Amino acid sequence: MSFSLEGKVALVTGGGRGIGKEIARRFVAAGADVIIASRKLENLHKTAEEFSSLSGRILPVRCHIGKADQVESAVAAAEEQFGTIDIMVNNGATNLEQGPSLSVSDAAVMKMVEINVLSAVRFLRLTVPKMIEKGGGSIINIASIAGLRPQREGLLYSFTKSGLIMMTRTWADEWGQHGIRVNAIAPGLVRTDFSSFFWKRLDENAQYPPTQPIKRLGETSDIGGIALYLASDESTWVTGQVMVIDGGATAR
Ligand SMILES: NC(=O)c1ccc[n+]([C@@H]2O[C@H](COP(=O)([O-])OP(=O)(O)OC[C@H]3O[C@@H](n4cnc5c(N)ncnc54)[C@H](OP(=O)(O)O)[C@@H]3O)[C@@H](O)[C@H]2O)c1
Repeated sequence: MSFSLEGKVALVTGGGRGIGKEIARRFVAAGADVIIASRKLENLHKTAEEFSSLSGRILPVRCHIGKADQVESAVAAAEEQFGTIDIMVNNGATNLEQGPSLSVSDAAVMKMVEINVLSAVRFLRLTVPKMIEKGGGSIINIASIAGLRPQREGLLYSFTKSGLIMMTRTWADEWGQHGIRVNAIAPGLVRTDFSSFFWKRLDENAQYPPTQPIKRLGETSDIGGIALYLASDESTWVTGQVMVIDGGATAR
């Protein structure tokens, strides 16, 4: 059994905190060279410093993933430093205008699509041709259980995550012949800044959805291991799948 990522290069968007940070930590510890890309460089540097004693190298790169030119420069910086990318993790995302569907603005639709969905298309347009040349790669898209069933008052978030899931399946179908695997992870409620609006209320009431058999919040460590599995050679027959990691919330 080998979860080693020695000799591999990974790019993790939003790798400075939350789920992306934990994924980056697992990858660096497994020997990969990892680029972490997001808007707040100071935060990325802090994470890089924290991981500096781990096995692989880490490169922080400032990148607003909704902006095409910044996506291009992030990939160029990654390739200049470490060579071509073997593992691409589309993790960075945003959630705007949570509320009734009729109040959603055009601007919010466009921004959510650009950051949560188009960013992945742009990163893959730049990285997949080189994966094809090399004969393989692993792509991991961080979706959500909100992409599998509607999230109350979360129209835009749900539809962008659902889009990412369908892209995952489509890309897996298209690029499998080149040895490229494409999978999604759909987390339930995980304790990060992103979801604090939801889990702070749960903590106060100590109540979990009756449909969630494991009565605790998800932690970023619950997601990191599955990402390492999907990146590693332990999962070479796994593609086009959505790994649901949610304490069983959607099991019924
Ligand atoms: N937490 C949950 O309950 C949960 C559940 C299901 C799915 N997810 C998904 O998990 C992923 C990670 O979320 P998280 O919970 O770890 O949240 P988080 O701790 O708030 O992290 C979000 C990350 O995305 C980056 N980001 C946001 N907007 C960006 C932009 N425009 N350009 C570049 N980077 C950007 C942030 O970095 P900067 O601020 O530095 O840009 C940050 O690193 C997301 O795709 C989210 O949808 C989370």
